[in-house]
Amino acid sequence: MSAHPRTLATPAGTLIIYSDRATACQVAGDRMGSAVREARAKRGRAVLGLATGSTPILVYKRLVEQVQAGELSLEATSTYNLDEYYPISPLDSHSYHAFMHQHLLEQIGLPPHQTHILDGTVPEAFVTAHCAEFERWIQADGGLDLQLLGIGRNGHIGFNEPMDLSVEQALKLPTRLMPLHPVTLADAAADFGGQPDLVPQRALTMGIATILAARSILILAFGAAKATAVAQAIEGPITASVPASLLQTVASRVTWLVDEAASAELNKC
Ligand code: PGA
Repeated sequence: MSAHPRTLATPAGTLIIYSDRATACQVAGDRMGSAVREARAKRGRAVLGLATGSTPILVYKRLVEQVQAGELSLEATSTYNLDEYYPISPLDSHSYHAFMHQHLLEQIGLPPHQTHILDGTVPEAFVTAHCAEFERWIQADGGLDLQLLGIGRNGHIGFNEPMDLSVEQALKLPTRLMPLHPVTLADAAADFGGQPDLVPQRALTMGIATILAARSILILAFGAAKATAVAQAIEGPITASVPASLLQTVASRVTWLVDEAASAELNKC
């Protein structure tokens, strides 16, 4: 057995391989706490970019532990979530609003005006304005100090799905409404009682440009189902058809925390 964790320099950033996801999530939660402390020491406030899905649940558990133990204060801290289904009510248990309340916000007592999630109830004619405003809020807060990411089986980050665009075009993509990719819809169906028809077909997502502007990016991937996407993102060409490969353009700010299974395809691209 090889020793853990193993740290490697890759074209897409620092890669740290853990034997188990619980340890990786604990490290991710601790790094988020450190990012908050450092940003507050440096510029008086901290801004976290948050993610949903099964991957970050234990990360939030660790963050909650730090706050509840008095090790971490979230004073002068705000959060921005990566994405939300569209259309969806924040009261719908499948919404990412509900997810964040369940896994983080209820437990840490962050004032509601310091935690921001794209709104799945905005009238469609105002979606573009809402997304632009969301970006202005991030800018006004001084930009994201740390963006937490998962990766889809199809290589998506947020709901930036595989795209038929040049790299140059993809790197400029702002926060916007996107149709969901068939792989994403299939994976999301489990959360909707196994019924793909119930999954909203579209979502609001932070853009590629918005994500890549973060001062640091922590991307987590666990399990064999993510192995191909991880290998393509880290070792494959930079391409909009594997959105996570665009992280290679800001590699010095990216850290991957993965388990053995998710790293199994590396060195095969
Ligand atoms: P998961 O999703 O955490 O539920 O695997 C990650 C993603 O699609 O970004």
